Amino acid sequence: MSRVRVHNFSVSLDGFAAGEGQTLEAPFGHAGTRLVEWFFRTRAFHEMQGRAGGDGGVDDALASAWGAGIGAEIMGRNKFGPQRGPWTDEEWKGWWGENPPFHTPVFVLTHHPRPSLEMEGGTVFHFVDASPQEVLKQAREAAGDLDVRIGGGPTTVRQFLAEDLVDHLHVAVVPIVLGRGERLWDGLEGLEQRFRVESVTTPGGTTHLTFTRP
Ligand SMILES: NC(=O)c1ccc[n+]([C@@H]2O[C@H](COP(=O)([O-])OP(=O)(O)OC[C@H]3O[C@@H](n4cnc5c(N)ncnc54)[C@H](OP(=O)(O)O)[C@@H]3O)[C@@H](O)[C@H]2O)c1
Repeated sequence: MSRVRVHNFSVSLDGFAAGEGQTLEAPFGHAGTRLVEWFFRTRAFHEMQGRAGGDGGVDDALASAWGAGIGAEIMGRNKFGPQRGPWTDEEWKGWWGENPPFHTPVFVLTHHPRPSLEMEGGTVFHFVDASPQEVLKQAREAAGDLDVRIGGGPTTVRQFLAEDLVDHLHVAVVPIVLGRGERLWDGLEGLEQRFRVESVTTPGGTTHLTFTRP
């Protein structure tokens, strides 16, 4: 069966994967870009944006694994946008412009479903009010033989980890202390016992942890 993968999921030393106070101008809230600077520097991120340049090296080697073999993504509503509650309009199409970098169906978990959005380049956003198991079934059907990526944010990744639905988790522990925000690890005591865990620290100071189902 296809695997469920999380990639490039950036977490501060104190366990936060998003800052507090998300707005249109600050997708990561008070964290600014500090959680993802390591990723922004990579060639993989530049390529994702259709730009030349970026650093090679170990951060890039790990970052670039995010897309291969992926046939669908599942994300939370707060990764998709800063709105809360019922949609006041349906103009918002995500942070990524007309041609988002996913190029697959993307299932956006929300208690406020709205019509699907077909974007350029193969990305189609579907808005789904469902349990992790139910949305995963839909994503697997859409992905065919390919894997499903859980794209975040922390509330969403945590749910899939709690239900033991994740086969591969790549966490990038960034040497910053955020102090507040949305935690990844809450409620996941003993998580490491379900996985083979490996780590490597890169010269930039980011520790990459992979949790792989044995
Ligand atoms: N560190 C990283 O690598 C990384 C990666 C991706 C995103 N992020 C950041 O993470 C933040 C967003 O994360 P988050 O934890 O706040 O939120 P999130 O996981 O993106 O979304 C949570 C929201 O999704 C909806 N939802 C989640 N599960 C659902 C379910 N089973 N059924 C129905 N609706 C469901 C609910 O919204 P409604 O009730 O409002 O519909 C819920 O409040 C952003 O700041 C983003 O930039 C960080």
